[in-house]
Formats: sequence, C-alpha cells, structure tokens
Amino acid sequence: MNSGQVGSEVLVKGWVRTKRGNKNIVFIALNDGSTILNIQVVVDVALFDENLLKDITTGACIGVTGKLVESQGQGQHIEINATSIELYGKSDAELYPLQKKGHSMEFLRENAHLRFRTNTFGAVFRIRHSMAFAIHKYFNDKGFFYLHTPVITASDAEGAGEMFHVTTLDLHNLPKNDQGSVDFKSDFFGKETNLTVSGQLEGELGAMALGDIYTFGPTFRAENSNTPRHLAEFWMIEPEMAFYDLNDNMDLAEDFVKYLISYALENCKDDLGFLNTMIDKALLERLKFVVENEFVRISYTEAVEILLASGRKWEYQVGWGRDLQAEHERYLVEEHFKRPVILTDYPRDIKAFYMKQNDDGRTVRAMDVLFPGIGEIIGGSQREEDYDKLISRIREMKMPEKDLWWYLDTRRYGSAPHSGFGLGFERLILFITGMSNIRDVIPFPRTPKNAEF
Ligand code: 4AD
Ligand code: MG
Repeated sequence: MNSGQVGSEVLVKGWVRTKRGNKNIVFIALNDGSTILNIQVVVDVALFDENLLKDITTGACIGVTGKLVESQGQGQHIEINATSIELYGKSDAELYPLQKKGHSMEFLRENAHLRFRTNTFGAVFRIRHSMAFAIHKYFNDKGFFYLHTPVITASDAEGAGEMFHVTTLDLHNLPKNDQGSVDFKSDFFGKETNLTVSGQLEGELGAMALGDIYTFGPTFRAENSNTPRHLAEFWMIEPEMAFYDLNDNMDLAEDFVKYLISYALENCKDDLGFLNTMIDKALLERLKFVVENEFVRISYTEAVEILLASGRKWEYQVGWGRDLQAEHERYLVEEHFKRPVILTDYPRDIKAFYMKQNDDGRTVRAMDVLFPGIGEIIGGSQREEDYDKLISRIREMKMPEKDLWWYLDTRRYGSAPHSGFGLGFERLILFITGMSNIRDVIPFPRTPKNAEF
C-alpha cells in the first residue's frame, strides 16, 4: 500500500477482498498484493453512485482516492475515507470462481491463474520471492559468482536417464540412419539434446577457474513420480566450490539453509504469521528450532543400522546397498533424531558417477541433507578429482565417455579437490511456508499429465 500519514490524501489501487455494510455505509477490504494486510476503505453511500457501488464486488479492481484516518473500528489502525472511486475491472459475482472463501487446495490448483489472489498464495509467492533474493544475497556476500548454465544440454548429469528431449525434428517423419535409429545429425544441434536435469557439470567447469560459483535455474526431470515432493520442472540452487572437502561442503549447506530460514523469520513476518495461523500452527516453532540446533551428521552405514534396529515394519526393505526411501529418511529425522540429519558416504552403486570414491572401494563422499516433513532437501558430494578413478568409473557405468570429454578435461588440466550440492528450491519453500504439496509453492506446477497454464 502507498504509505502515508494520517490526515493525508492517498490513492490506492487494488483488488476487493470483501465488501460489507448497510444502506448508509460500506466497508471494503482492499489488497494491492504488496502485503498480506488489507486496507479498509470506508464509503459514505450517499456520496457515490448506486450502480458503481453495486459493481464493487469481491475480485473487482478499483482505485480509491481518499483521506487516511485513524480507524474507528477494530482490526486495523488506519483506514481510508473514500472521496472518489474508479472501477478498473468488474468481477461478476455470479461467475468469479473465488467469490467464496475456503476453497480446497485442489480447487485452487485447478484455478492456478487466479489463486495468487488468495491470502495463502499471496503469502507463499511473496516468501518465494524473498528466498530467491536471499539466496543471491547470501552468495554475493560470500564472494560466489552466479553462473548461468545452459537449459539445453547434450549430457545427462545425474545419469538417471529422466530427460525431456529437445528437438526440431518432425516427429511424424523421423530421419533414420543405417542402423535404423533416429539420425540426429539433421536435428537443430546436430546431436541429441535434452532439457538439463542439473547445472552441476557445467558449474564444475566454472568453479575450476572462478573458485566459488553457484547456479540458480530451472531443471527438468521426466520422472513419473506423482508425489507431494516431486515436480517435472523445479528450480535448483547449485553451489560448487574449489578446495572444499565434504566437511566444508556440509558446513556451507548447513549455514546456507539456516541463513535462509533466519532471513524469512526476519523479513517475512506478516506472511509467516498468517501461514502459522492458517496452515500449520507449528510452523514458526519448527523454523526456529532448525535455526537454533545443529544438524546431526552420520554415515549412511550408521543410518542403516539405526533403521534395522528400529523394529519398524517398512514398506520398502532396508539393507546396506539399498537406496533410502522417504519413509526411512523421515523416521531418522522426525522420530529418531528429531532434527535435520546429514547422511554421508553412501554406497557408490546408488549414487552418480562424479562422486569422490572412498578408499573402502564401496562408498562415495556423498551427502544428503534430510529435513522434517520433507525428506531430502539437499543432495551433494565431494567430486572425484582424479582422472584415472573418474574415467574408470565412467567406463564401469557404461556412460558415454566420448560426450564427456570437456568434463574430463578439468581433471586433465589443473584438477583440484572440489565439492558442491543442489538445494531444491521448491522443497525449501515447502519447508518455510508449511505448505504440504509442492504443487502449491511454484506458480505453475509441471507434473505428469499437467501443464494447463
Ligand atoms: O539429489 P539431486 O538429484 O542432486 C543433483 O542434481 C546434483 N547434481 C546436485 C549437486 O551436487 N550440484 O537433486 C538435488 C535436490 C534434491 O535434494 C531435491 O531437493 C531437489 O533437488 N529435487 C527435486 N525437487 C523437486 N522435484 C524433483 N523432481 C526433484 N528432484 C530433485
Ligand atoms: Mg538426491
């Protein structure tokens, strides 16, 4: 809202949240999106055209000129005594989907084009903005450089094969080579390309010259996971640091997320207060708890022992060498340790090719940061900087060695110990807002069978 002193004349423009009153006086709650707080507009019915007032319904957009006065009523300090009102856009009360309050999250998802106008989504997207800003501030203050890695790539950084193809070939008439498979030579880039699953490999190239870099951009995964924590298009922050070992990496990850949560507590008070009241009564307490307490750091092997000793019946079997599922991660965080946990040194066979190999020959210097209510929020590792070890791993995993020549060059020329991690931006926003579905913390979620807006 335009700030102004009591007694001064102001002009405010925004959307009507509610209108109530009687035949003499009307109260309009107006919101311009800058804050969760509405301003109350007091309208002396006698001064205005009856038809204009009729058209001021929930959802309509108006501009109000009037005097800022101390409020006579309860619930606000100041209000506006309207002297003139301009109607920018009507909103038919019979048809406007958000006419009534209290819609389900599902209904609002189907109306993602309008849900910004609700208190909840206004709060979520203001907080999302603040977190994006805080991320850049954090790294800038630490001397990291923001590196823009490509959205279209020819490599599969995670080696999981969950990629969306990018092509200009005619899908109804694909050119074939002698072996009968698609001939990508005539495709736009002259080779097979896809949307990136991670900016890490290119990020490493930057770190091997600029020292400390980070990426922050959209990433794409064609995994068919219909869960409250997976998106097909999500944003990831990936710092990559020369001369960091795994311990330095864990220290940075812990400091970074604590900084972001503290920043939200300090700078998003009204919105967090609203979410704490309306969405999750334990939200503020949980955020403060995470900031104030050290994360537990244990190895994957120790975690498996804890899970096996728990006496629990798991849906997915626990055993050394198997990947941990959400139920296991959440048991460790929410029930066993009751605080965030960083797991390290996973079996190499369930992690990506680039992770530094431990001397035991079976584990790698991986780290996953696990959060209450979320599970994995960060995945990272120290990288294998030794050319021979890296190439033998690439061959063992039957990865396309030829296509990775540029990545391997960093290990040929001036290789250095280095580490990095990826923070899932929407998983962070889930944690900070207390929302329970990842589709509700990104403006236009992309999930299997869903790309309407
Ligand atoms: O663990 P991931 O796959 O790690 C990487 O991509 C590494 N290249 C990161 C690095 O070391 N630079 O993904 C990192 C994080 C996960 O911990 C999770 O928070 C998030 O990205 N993430 C997803 N978020 C939403 N939807 C999905 N489908 C996600 N997949 C991963
Ligand atoms: Mg991971």
